[in-house]
Amino acid sequence: MKRFEKHIFVCENKRPDGHPRGCCSDKGSKEIRTLLKKRLAALGLKTKVRVNATGCLDACEFGVTVLVYPEQIWYGGVTLDDVEEIIQQHIIKGNPIKKLMIKDKRFHQNEE
Ligand code: FES
Repeated sequence: MKRFEKHIFVCENKRPDGHPRGCCSDKGSKEIRTLLKKRLAALGLKTKVRVNATGCLDACEFGVTVLVYPEQIWYGGVTLDDVEEIIQQHIIKGNPIKKLMIKDKRFHQNEE
């Protein structure tokens, strides 16, 4: 039996103000992680889905970056308003949300 069925990694990297690459922390990633955890707990999924803060995932220009394993789905520009859809559509129903995926082929394992 797997320890967790899915992992959701939320970049919480913080860079100095004015840094050219920006950072997910300044775009509200901590609040996104907190809401993900709160909603998953409320839905009884806390023992199946693990949410973790990470350092930079090297997708800064697309942040807030959220990465879901084992599918390796990269979401970019994630906001608090996207959290429920990610949980309901992707985590519960197993349908990754195309419109939230990073629009860069480097982040899609089946594309070269
Ligand atoms: S700062 Fe979030 S991906 Fe780099």
